[in-house]
Amino acid sequence: MGDDPFTVRVLTVDDVVPLRRVLAGAFLTDLDEDRPERVEHVIEFDRARGVFHGDEMVGVGAVLTREITLPGGVVAPAAALTAAGVRPGYQRRGALNRLVASLVDGVPEAFAVLWASDGAIYGRFGCGSLASDLVHVALPHGAAFHAGVDVGDAVVREVTREQALPVLKEVYERVRTSRVGWLGRTDGSWEFHLADEDRYRDGLSAFRYALHPRGYVVYRVKTAWDERGPRDELHVHELVAETDVAHAALYRHLLDLGLGGEVTHHTAADDPIPHLLANPRAAVRRRHDALWVRLVHLDRALEQRRYLSDVDVVIEVDDPLLPRNAGRWRFTVEKGRASVRRTDDEPDVSADVAALGSAFLGGTRLSVLARAGRVREHTSGSVGALSVAFLAEHAPHCPELF
Ligand SMILES: CC(C)(COP(=O)(O)OP(=O)(O)OC[C@H]1O[C@@H](n2cnc3c(N)ncnc32)[C@H](O)[C@@H]1OP(=O)(O)O)[C@@H](O)C(=O)NCCC(=O)NCCS
Repeated sequence: MGDDPFTVRVLTVDDVVPLRRVLAGAFLTDLDEDRPERVEHVIEFDRARGVFHGDEMVGVGAVLTREITLPGGVVAPAAALTAAGVRPGYQRRGALNRLVASLVDGVPEAFAVLWASDGAIYGRFGCGSLASDLVHVALPHGAAFHAGVDVGDAVVREVTREQALPVLKEVYERVRTSRVGWLGRTDGSWEFHLADEDRYRDGLSAFRYALHPRGYVVYRVKTAWDERGPRDELHVHELVAETDVAHAALYRHLLDLGLGGEVTHHTAADDPIPHLLANPRAAVRRRHDALWVRLVHLDRALEQRRYLSDVDVVIEVDDPLLPRNAGRWRFTVEKGRASVRRTDDEPDVSADVAALGSAFLGGTRLSVLARAGRVREHTSGSVGALSVAFLAEHAPHCPELF
C-alpha cells in the first residue's frame, strides 16, 4: 500500500451491508450481533463516511444530530460521533486519521461528543476525556433508607413495554433539559436505547418497566440461588425521576423487589442514592469515564453554556488539528454568560483544546487538569477562578450510549 491508500466518501443507504461488515470486523462481533438497530434507526447516512481501499469499504465513522443539555440548562446542538471502526488488516495505516479529519472539520455544531471504546486514541484529535462520569453503584437487596427519606404514597406500577413507552418518552423529555449531559432523543434513538433482543441480555431477563406518576425505571433481572438462598440481581438500565420523592420511591421499589441479591445501576456521579441509605457504605461505587468532548468552534461552544461565577482571563489555546481555535482568546463571564473574543493580550492561562473539552460540561475541574500538566497558569489565581466558573450545577451525566 502506498503512503495514502484510502479514499473517503459520504455513505448512502446502499452501503448498509459493507458498513455492518466493517463494524462487525472492527468490534470482533458476529455480523448478526452488531446492533443492526444502530444502522436501521440511528445512522444518518448523509453524515456518515466510509473509508475505501479501492472499491472495498474498510473503515466507517458517523455523526449523529443530537441535542445535549449544557450547564445552566441550555439545550445545544451536539455532533455525536459514533460507529468509528476500521477492519482488521487495514488498521494503523491512517484510516481513522482520514475519517476524523473529514468528520470533525465539516460539522456545523460548535462541539462534538463521543464515547470512546479505547481510551488512548482520541486525545490526539483534541477530544477531552472524562467530560462526564458514570458511577456503577451496587446496593444490597432490602437496604433501609434513613428515617428522613420521603417516598410518598404513590404506587410504583410494573407495566408492559407497550404501556411504558409513551410515558417514558414524556417523562424523559420533561426531565432532560435540566440534566447536564442528557441528550434529546428521537424515536430512532429510543429504539436503539431500548433494543431488547435476546442477544443483548447476557443471561438476564427482558427489560421490565415500572412507572411512578413522576418517573420510571427500566431494568433487567437475573434470578440466582446460592448456599445462602436466593440472590436475585436487578440491573437498572435507566431510572428517571422528576422529583426527589419519585427518585426515592423508584429505588425503594427496586430494593424491595426480588430476593437476596443486589440492585446495580450505572448512574450519575452525584446520584444521591448513597445518602438515602441508613448505612451509606452499603452502596458500593466504582467510577468510570463516560463522554468525551471535542470543541469544534471553540468560541461558539464556550459561549453556549452558562458559568457559575464571573471571570475575565486570556486563554492561549493549542489546537494543531483545527488551527481556527488556536491562539489567544479573552474569556469574560458576566452574570453567567461568556463572551469569547480574539486578543493579542498576554495569556493568563494556556491550555490544550482537549483540556477545555474535558472541563466543558462542568465535571472535570481545570485546576485538576493544571495539576496534571494539561493547563498552565501564567497569572496567579487565574486557573482557580476559571476552574470555579466552569463548574456545573450538578455532575454531568449521559445516561445512554449512542
Ligand atoms: C481504533 C481504530 C478505529 C483506529 O483506526 P486506525 O485506522 O487503525 O487508526 P490510524 O491508523 O488512523 O491511527 C490514528 C492515530 O491513532 C493512533 N492509534 C491507532 N490505534 C491505536 C491504538 N490502539 N492505541 C493507541 N494509538 C492508536 C495511531 O498511532 C495514529 O496516531 P498518529 O497519527 O499520531 O500516529 C481501529 O483500530 C479499530 O477499528 N479498532 C477496533 C474498534 C475500536 O476500538 N474502535 C474505537 C471506536 S471508539
